[in-house]
This record gives sequence, C-alpha cells and structure tokens, in this order.
Amino acid sequence: MWRPVLFAIGIVLSVNVMHGQAPTAVETGQSAAARRGYELLRTKPYLPADFDQDVFDSLWKSWPKPLQETARAASVQERRRLTMERYGLMPSPDAIGNGRALGYVDDGKQGWVMNCLACHGGKVAGQVIPGLGNSHFALQTLTEDVRITKLFMGKKLSHLDGASLTIPLGTTAGTTNSVIFGVVLAALRDTDMNVDRKRPIPELKHHDLDAPPLWNVKKKTRLYADGFAPKNHRVLMQFMMLPRNDAGVLRSWEADFQDILAWMESLESPKYPWKLDETLVARGKVVFDQHCAKCHGTYGKDGRYLQKVISIDVIGTDRRRLDSLNVEHRQWMKDGWLSRYGADRVDLHPAGYVAPPLDGVWASAPYLHNGSVPTLWHILHPDQRPSIWRRTIDGYDQNRGGIEIQEIEALPVKLSRAERRMYFDTSKPGKSSDGHTFPNALSDSEKREVLEYLKSL
Ligand code: HEC
Ligand code: HEC
Repeated sequence: MWRPVLFAIGIVLSVNVMHGQAPTAVETGQSAAARRGYELLRTKPYLPADFDQDVFDSLWKSWPKPLQETARAASVQERRRLTMERYGLMPSPDAIGNGRALGYVDDGKQGWVMNCLACHGGKVAGQVIPGLGNSHFALQTLTEDVRITKLFMGKKLSHLDGASLTIPLGTTAGTTNSVIFGVVLAALRDTDMNVDRKRPIPELKHHDLDAPPLWNVKKKTRLYADGFAPKNHRVLMQFMMLPRNDAGVLRSWEADFQDILAWMESLESPKYPWKLDETLVARGKVVFDQHCAKCHGTYGKDGRYLQKVISIDVIGTDRRRLDSLNVEHRQWMKDGWLSRYGADRVDLHPAGYVAPPLDGVWASAPYLHNGSVPTLWHILHPDQRPSIWRRTIDGYDQNRGGIEIQEIEALPVKLSRAERRMYFDTSKPGKSSDGHTFPNALSDSEKREVLEYLKSL
C-alpha cells in the first residue's frame, strides 16, 4: 500500500514544482492500472542487475584525474550526485528505489536493475519528469566505467558489460543505439518467442536515437519514428527479451505490460513554466494551422492528431534509422507473438517518418528522431542549425525553446572517449540535422510567432 502513496506524493511534488499549484493524485486522473504500471516500473526487476551499490559507489575511482580528485574530497552524498551527473542518471523523484536513479530498480540484493525509465525518464530545466526522454543518459560511458570498476574490484561482469563489447550502446550522450538492441534481441528468438541462438544475426547498421516523450503514446495507434509497429503491450516488451527471459517468462508478464501501457497513456505533457506572450501565441496558431497542421495536426479544444507518415524524400531528415531496421526484423514481428501473429498490423516498408504530436514539445529537446537539433528555434531556422554542439548540464534556453548549448567549429583534439560523447557531431553517420525545411516558407516574424505557439503546446 505504501508504494502507490509515495508515488502519488511524487506526482504531486513534481507537478507542483512545474506549475506552481498542487493538484491531488485524483486530479491527475490516473487509473488503478496506470498506477500499478508505474509502480511496476519503479519496483519490479525484469532483468539481472547491471552492477551493485558497491560498484556504483566506486565508479569515481575510474574517472580522469581532476574529476577523481573532486570526488575523493567529496562526501558520500556529493559523490553520488557527481556520479549521477557524469552518466546522466536522473535522481529519483520520490523515495522509491532506496537512492537508486530513476530507471533502476532495487533487486533486494544491493543490485541496480535497469529498465525503461533509464531512457524514458528525463530532466528539463533541472526538473525530473518520468516519461520524458532522458537526453542526458551516457549509457556507453556508464557501462565502460562499470566494467573497469568491476575488473578492479574482482566482480563478475553482467550481460550489458558483455554486450557493449560488440554493440555500441550510444556514441552521443542523451541518445542510444536502442533500435539495434531490439534487432539483436529479436534475432535470438523464433516467432513464438522461444530462444533460438541458431538464427542468423542480420547486418547491423548502428545509429543513435533520442527517446521520444511517452505522453504522446496515447495519441498514437502506431509506434516508433517510422510508425512501423502497432501499439500494443507486447511490442513494449522488446527491451525485456534478453535470452534468460524465455517465452514462458515473457508471457507471464503480459498483465504487467498492459498496466505499463496504461501508465504511458495516462501521462500528460508538462506545461511551459515561464511567461508566454499571448499575442504572439495567438498569431502563431494561425500560421501553424496554415503551414504545419496538415502534418502535425491541430491542438487545443477540438485538436486532432493525424499520425501522418511522411515520405523520406519529402521530409529529408537523416535516413539511417529508416534503413537500419531491416525487413527481416519487421517480418519477424509481423509473423510473431509481438503483433499477435499479424492481427495487429506491422508495416514491412514504411515510407519515412511519422510527424509526431507536438504536445509539450518545449520540454522534449533535442529534436528530430536522432536528437540532432537542440532547440525549436533551430527547427524553424534550418540553415542555422549547429554542426557540432554540446549542451550545458541543466540550462534551458527560453529564447530559442530548447536546451542551452555551446556551439563549436571543430571538435577539440585529444578528447577522451567519454568527453567526445558529450558533443553532438552532425557529420557522423545517422546524426545529420538536415531536412524538415518546411519552416523556410515562413517570414521572420511568422517564425517568432510559431516559436511562441510551439512553447504553449
Ligand atoms: C536504451 C534506451 C531505451 C530503453 C531502455 C527503452 N527505450 Fe523505449 N525508446 C527508446 C528510443 C531511442 C525510442 C525511439 C525508437 C524509434 O523511434 O525507433 C524508443 C521508443 C519507445 C516507444 C515508442 C514511442 C512513440 O512515440 O512512438 C515506446 C512506447 C517505448 N519506447 C517504450 C519503452 C518501454 C515500455 C521500455 C521498457 C520495457 C523501453 N521503451 C525501454 C529508448 C529506450
Ligand atoms: C510535410 C509534413 C510536415 C510539415 C508541413 C511540417 N512538419 Fe514538422 N515534422 C514532420 C515530420 C515527419 C517530423 C519528424 C522528422 C524526424 O524526426 O526525422 C517533424 C518534426 C518536427 C519537429 C520535431 C519534433 C520532435 O519531437 O522532435 C518540430 C518541432 C516540427 N516538426 C515543427 C514543425 C513546424 C513548426 C512546422 C510548420 C512550420 C512543421 N513542423 C511542418 C513533418 C512535417
């Protein structure tokens, strides 16, 4: 009983800080199923632990010198904060998890077990929001440091430590190669979900994506950047398909994932917490409805989302994500248990990318499916998007609507791998910020108006 209560308190606290008001848990309109779904995500270990508390508390010993010295001199609490910050882990918004980051579950044996919220619980302007994509997460750096620390401490390596030796986990902090994790895990199973290690692993085109905000799931009937998969609770279980969870185990979790889907569908987008110029907002709506609504739909009372898939030639954004999800993978889903053997439609040849709902878009920077564009202003000014940029830790750029960044001409030489991942380099495969040039049809004043309107959604 205490967990739902703590959870309710968590919602009230986070909503309170964002909006300056204190709705009760009832007012957030969450069903019992949605509350159970969130509780499962905060408490139930579906995978083995990635590391234990001792390893977590020793990670700083693997850091480069100046940082290590800072950590050595710090208190345990401060060291834990620095550790969370280095890896883009989100402090838990409530008391669940015994000090673990959001997205890590206590396995009752000192372990940290990763789940969906590691990528799907993020922070905007310093405020943690479950369901927001984690645009700070440095999974590759975390995994490398965990591996070194375990070797140093003589501890056993885990599944992720091993996998990361052959599959890149993410080359830019805030994005992950998660689509390819799905392809690899699927390749190890037949269509009934029985583990079958003899199946061939298809060619893997690694690339990193930005986790989309989950509050838009309720508006969709199809999932992912190209909308190829149907929305159902089974499709959500892909991240849990490690071979140790055989077909029977996955089936036994169906009810859990129905609740997890109910939680996602209960999420509301956060409201822009600063002042808006209402005159600009009203003018921006008119311009948006003229130029953008045919793809992105309309908002407010009577708003309507269209879920349009735009051909890759028309949208012109980076095509690696579209090409990397090979047809064998899509066919496997179509023929198998995840799509109820094709009863829920799977698209084998999606044309391009879905125009996403723009609810709460002020909060979900960086933009485009690959997270290559740091602010809404840069979406509206395609020619001025930065080629190499790095975010500040918690800065929000209220003028441009998005994350505060430093732009640089060229990467500094002699960067450690961990440092290099802090920069988004749009020249790398899968990371182009080209395309979506529709805003070029707008005048400068229209862009200002649309920018203000986008912040209000
Ligand atoms: C390692 C990071 C990571 C983890 C862990 C993860 N996701 Fe995701 N998730 C992503 C990324 C990146 C995408 C975008 C994929 C795409 O569009 O092809 C995504 C997409 C989704 C979507 C589609 C949203 C939309 O609007 O189309 C849903 C739903 C989702 N994830 C649910 C889950 C659930 C449930 C779990 C846990 C079982 C989970 N994710 C675990 C990174 C992650
Ligand atoms: C022809 C259809 C189309 C039109 C017109 C269009 N968009 Fe888009 N928009 C898309 C698609 C498709 C994407 C996703 C592209 C991707 O992720 O690669 C997108 C992405 C975006 C994003 C990023 C969303 C996110 O969460 O990353 C924003 C913001 C946006 N559009 C705003 C606008 C505005 C403002 C206009 C009008 C000036 C507009 N769009 C016109 C199709 C369109």
